[in-house]
Amino acid sequence: MKIFYFTGTGNSLSIAKQMGGKLFSIPLMLAKGELSHEDDAIGLVFPCYYFNIPAIVNEFVSRASLSANYFFAVMTYGNTSGLGLEKLKKTAKLAGIGFHYTNEILMTDNFLPAFDIKKQIALEGKKEIEKNTATILNDIKYRKVNSVKKKGILTRIVATVVSKTLSLNGQEDKNFRVDKSCISCGTCLKVCPRSNIISVDGKPTYRHKCEYCLSCIHACPITAIHIKGEKNSARFRNKNVSLEEIINSNSVIELKN
Ligand SMILES: Cc1cc2nc3c(=O)[nH]c(=O)nc-3n(C[C@H](O)[C@H](O)[C@H](O)COP(=O)(O)O)c2cc1C
Repeated sequence: MKIFYFTGTGNSLSIAKQMGGKLFSIPLMLAKGELSHEDDAIGLVFPCYYFNIPAIVNEFVSRASLSANYFFAVMTYGNTSGLGLEKLKKTAKLAGIGFHYTNEILMTDNFLPAFDIKKQIALEGKKEIEKNTATILNDIKYRKVNSVKKKGILTRIVATVVSKTLSLNGQEDKNFRVDKSCISCGTCLKVCPRSNIISVDGKPTYRHKCEYCLSCIHACPITAIHIKGEKNSARFRNKNVSLEEIINSNSVIELKN
């Protein structure tokens, strides 16, 4: 089983790691141009962005050539999943892929501009993450065929409004601010899946090709990077994922430059 994953703060990687297959990072596969894959089962694990799927996941599914007897996708999300998996299915269909199993899992919300991360972390216990993960792992182990239920009219309306008003264009990093406490450690460069950060005079400079994963902000060891609208300096990384694992998943800078 091959699992292709994308993660900003570790939630999706924590799920992917428990599935027991061979893991492949989507940013690395795109950067290396390794886009042809075959196995008995192929899965995708990634976060929900703006009721949709991240652009990098959409790009991978559109460009990759994947062949398997069983395809599955699991989307992690923090509050409301919207139409992410429906959008994924549309892109996949155009690429000749039909999913046998899709599911979504409620985890900690890492979206700093909207949420107090401290409060989101405090909500983890109520989300039954371990129990829901176990169900999904079991479903995949036994190659269950199932899809998430089609979303209701209200979700569809909200998702449509969100996608029209908040579509991501890579310029989101214009809302980031690096303060004077930056120690030029380079962590932000290493966790960026789009090699969107270059170091100028020791401080990160953004190139406006942002995936908006917020990984650079959450991973900064001294909280020197801030975003407009953040509630406080609380930051998040899934407790089952190390900073090194995020770097190993997303560090594409040497591959691209
Ligand atoms: C740009 C962005 C947009 C997001 N949009 C949504 C959303 O529409 N609905 C939702 O429930 N969570 C949303 N989230 C939260 C993430 O989907 C959630 O925290 C996810 O588990 C993070 O996975 P990761 O740790 O693998 O990056 C968003 C996060 C980011 C960074």
